[in-house]
Amino acid sequence: MKIKVYRFNEKMDSPSYDTFDLEPKPGMTVMSALFQFQEKFDDSLSFHYSCRGAVCGTCAMLINKVPRLACRTQIESLLKGNLKVPIFPYPAIGKTISWDPEKEVLVEPLPHLPVIKDLIVDMDLFFKFYRFIEPTFKPVDFNSDEEMIMYPVDVKKLQVYTNCILCAACFGGCPIVGQNPKYLGPAALAKLYRFHIDPREAEGISRLKIADIPNGWWACESYGNCFKVCPKGVPPIKAIEKAVDKLNNSKKSI
Ligand code: SF4
Ligand code: FES
Repeated sequence: MKIKVYRFNEKMDSPSYDTFDLEPKPGMTVMSALFQFQEKFDDSLSFHYSCRGAVCGTCAMLINKVPRLACRTQIESLLKGNLKVPIFPYPAIGKTISWDPEKEVLVEPLPHLPVIKDLIVDMDLFFKFYRFIEPTFKPVDFNSDEEMIMYPVDVKKLQVYTNCILCAACFGGCPIVGQNPKYLGPAALAKLYRFHIDPREAEGISRLKIADIPNGWWACESYGNCFKVCPKGVPPIKAIEKAVDKLNNSKKSI
């Protein structure tokens, strides 16, 4: 099989692709293939990684035109077509070189973020939006010495959102992020909703109001790619839809 890898650095006028041959072993991941590429072909190939165990969120990239974690995506499964994700197509994944998904793996940087070098993108915009939603726990009473008990049913509701590893796969997979560079994006909105439903925080919709702006909840058009590409099963689209319902109901009751 062949692996085609996107290459870019600041001295280049436009990106190019390098292709190399690989004999994939069972269980071999795209990240392992990138290490082989570095060792055998070009040690200047650049990509981010840390945990190599789908925990740190640093290795998200576009693999066969779907945002995925390189450390978790197995090459044999990709070639067999077992990892197909039916995402809604959007312009950033349309541009391509010729590539045969049954014999080749195409690896490109995550869309919607500026490329620094090869597969490394600048995550500043993603984290700017994340900070905007004030992602810190704000209990009703900061000075209380009393234990704040959470019931299992409440923990279960939160858990699906706390699983986010901030990989930005959803940001790279969202058609609206591509159209509107001011849109806060799926991960930030899902996190905001997570604090809204935390029973230890204030009741009401004060948290939701942070994103009650044109580039917040209201910008989502429910494409649903965020949920399909999330490696942790976080459903930002559900959080956004619930937040929109709550905000609409609160406006009706005024
Ligand atoms: S919601 Fe999922 S895809 Fe988005 S940043 Fe979190 S873990 Fe990654
Ligand atoms: S290297 Fe940490 S999630 Fe892939």
